[in-house]
Amino acid sequence: MQKYNAIAEAQRKPLRVKNGKGLNIPELIRLGSLAASSHNTQPWKIRIEGQALEIFPDLSRRCPVVDPNDAHLFKSLGCMAENIRIAAASQGYVADISFREDSGMVRLEFLTSTSAESDDLFSAILKRQCTKTPFSGKPLEPDHRRALELSARGNGVRTIIMEDKSRLETIIEFVAQGNGEQLSDPAFQKELASWIRFNPAVAIKFKDGLAGHLAGQPPLPQWLGKALLNFVLTPKNQSDTDAVNIRSSAAVVVFITEDDNPPAWVEVGRVYERFALKACALGIRNAFINQPIEVRKILPELNSWLGLEKGKASLVIRIGYGTEAPFSLRRPVEEIIIQDNAM
Ligand SMILES: Cc1cc2nc3c(=O)[nH]c(=O)nc-3n(C[C@H](O)[C@H](O)[C@H](O)COP(=O)(O)O)c2cc1C
Repeated sequence: MQKYNAIAEAQRKPLRVKNGKGLNIPELIRLGSLAASSHNTQPWKIRIEGQALEIFPDLSRRCPVVDPNDAHLFKSLGCMAENIRIAAASQGYVADISFREDSGMVRLEFLTSTSAESDDLFSAILKRQCTKTPFSGKPLEPDHRRALELSARGNGVRTIIMEDKSRLETIIEFVAQGNGEQLSDPAFQKELASWIRFNPAVAIKFKDGLAGHLAGQPPLPQWLGKALLNFVLTPKNQSDTDAVNIRSSAAVVVFITEDDNPPAWVEVGRVYERFALKACALGIRNAFINQPIEVRKILPELNSWLGLEKGKASLVIRIGYGTEAPFSLRRPVEEIIIQDNAM
């Protein structure tokens, strides 16, 4: 575990360059790659184009069972783009962000600006994580709630923050319904197992995927973890864990998009990442509970329970105060940069 923690820490070392020294592209990519991604697949490839970065989807890292239309994949690209935008501001640059429908590429073009500067979101890039353990149960402080609401504005994206305990109980039911569908599907179990790193040595080898110990699981040989998964990860066990986790949370937040297409998914990923960084800066933790989004037949029920006349729920998280968990790992920057002759 010591080796794992040392690598995770090295990947999150503070920035070494100062403002006014020009754009530090490798540093932008490193900070971008610390963004959240579905199953920690890190489904991105980056091309450097002068004063621009182009983020392409890495389709070899798709999860066709849980994410058949690549919505989570594009949300993950949005998370990375937002980290890079914030990191560029700390270097004195604003980023003009555009989306190319043909290639699914997110392009960030950097321009110097006197108004671009470092803020609390920037420092949080190194500390943000999805904390998959229970929180403290402490309610949300009103000024924290206001700050979170302000951070979550985006083009065609809005949020609903629910603190009411009876509403959280209904979310628990939606999540349990999702677990029932997903965990009784052998294809879902197989895909999930392929991304679980059952012990720190395997997590270090791949530097992606879901390290079991982040969710409090004991380390196991990879073969044994895979063999036991079906028996341990049952709908009931997972729903019991989720219920404890949700009841320990201060609120559940639903991110809603007006449209349901790749540009909207990138945008909601950007808004989520900004929200998560703001939360982190305020000492508030977050973890996803996306089962009702991922199971297609549950989503309309969730939308109607939320009273949505326009748009649909696109991401669901729980938030609250609590202790930091170990961090997840990232692949080296060199592995995600596209060399021009490779296109
Ligand atoms: C679009 C998206 C969907 C995700 N869905 C889930 C989810 O349903 N359940 C979950 O536990 N984590 C989910 N995650 C969180 C990832 O597992 C997490 O970001 C990844 O493991 C990297 O860890 P980190 O965010 O702590 O750096 C999701 C992340 C993204 C960006």
